[in-house]
Amino acid sequence: MSSLIKNMKLENKVAIITGGASGIGEETARRFAEHGARAVVIADIQEEKGLLVAKSIGLHRCAFVKCDVTDEKQVESLIQSTVSRYGQIDVVFSNAGICSISKQDILDFDFADYETLFAINVRGMIACVKHAGRAMEKSGGKGSIICTASVMANSGAAMKIDYTMSKHAVLGLVRCASKGLGQYGIRVNCVSPAATATPLTSKAMNMSHEEVEKHFESFSTLKIGAPLQVKNVADAVLFLASEDSEFVTGHNLVVDGGYNPF
Ligand SMILES: NC(=O)c1ccc[n+]([C@@H]2O[C@H](COP(=O)([O-])OP(=O)(O)OC[C@H]3O[C@@H](n4cnc5c(N)ncnc54)[C@H](O)[C@@H]3O)[C@@H](O)[C@H]2O)c1
Repeated sequence: MSSLIKNMKLENKVAIITGGASGIGEETARRFAEHGARAVVIADIQEEKGLLVAKSIGLHRCAFVKCDVTDEKQVESLIQSTVSRYGQIDVVFSNAGICSISKQDILDFDFADYETLFAINVRGMIACVKHAGRAMEKSGGKGSIICTASVMANSGAAMKIDYTMSKHAVLGLVRCASKGLGQYGIRVNCVSPAATATPLTSKAMNMSHEEVEKHFESFSTLKIGAPLQVKNVADAVLFLASEDSEFVTGHNLVVDGGYNPF
């Protein structure tokens, strides 16, 4: 596949993708490999699925590492083992995230669900940015860190407010970390997709892949004959990972087709 792509954007790069066993992370792992990455490390809690994805990409350039991003030690070990194995780390896509199944409106807010979600969506994101930044700085600087935020980082919502709050926090993290790491040539950006059909959205809405696509299609003012898909998000992540965005940092790249839910 990679030989078909003329303009390889990640030739010889080493990348880690958290939440790479499914949805947006899986598609991005495939895109990174197609664009010549020397190694793509998929880090996820879904062992069977992660290994299957790595095998389908090819174990000569893709590996699976079991890692729960809520545990800082596991994140540190993921980054260190990648540097030991491949000698470098160029791109970290901190993407693992969940959405609560409960309604999470303000009057019935469930703190146990909120804590579970924040441990992954916020604490896990900070751990990834911290240890990716440390490793990149230690190896002489440069590198690209991308986090997955959401269109919900830019507005309020009556439900799923723990999720909305967590994505506001991701945007804050990206803005702060980009200031701290810029001096080392390390870029920190985020991608903010609108609703995309993935196992996360299907589970949160109790709908099939097709039902999710149909439900959200009208939210996009841009009409291209298809709803927003994971491939559109992967393309945006590729841009932020590659030298094409060499002077872009602290940026929130929204991928929403002119999102207008009203
Ligand atoms: N799908 C959407 O509509 C949408 C829109 C905006 C933002 N996002 C964000 O995109 C990211 C990816 O979501 P997706 O839609 O691809 O969902 P997904 O469920 O398909 O993928 C998420 C992956 O994260 C992994 N994960 C969950 N908890 C983890 C943990 N503790 N440690 C390591 N991995 C863990 C899951 O196992 C899964 O493989 C999330 O951060 C999500 O909030 C999704």
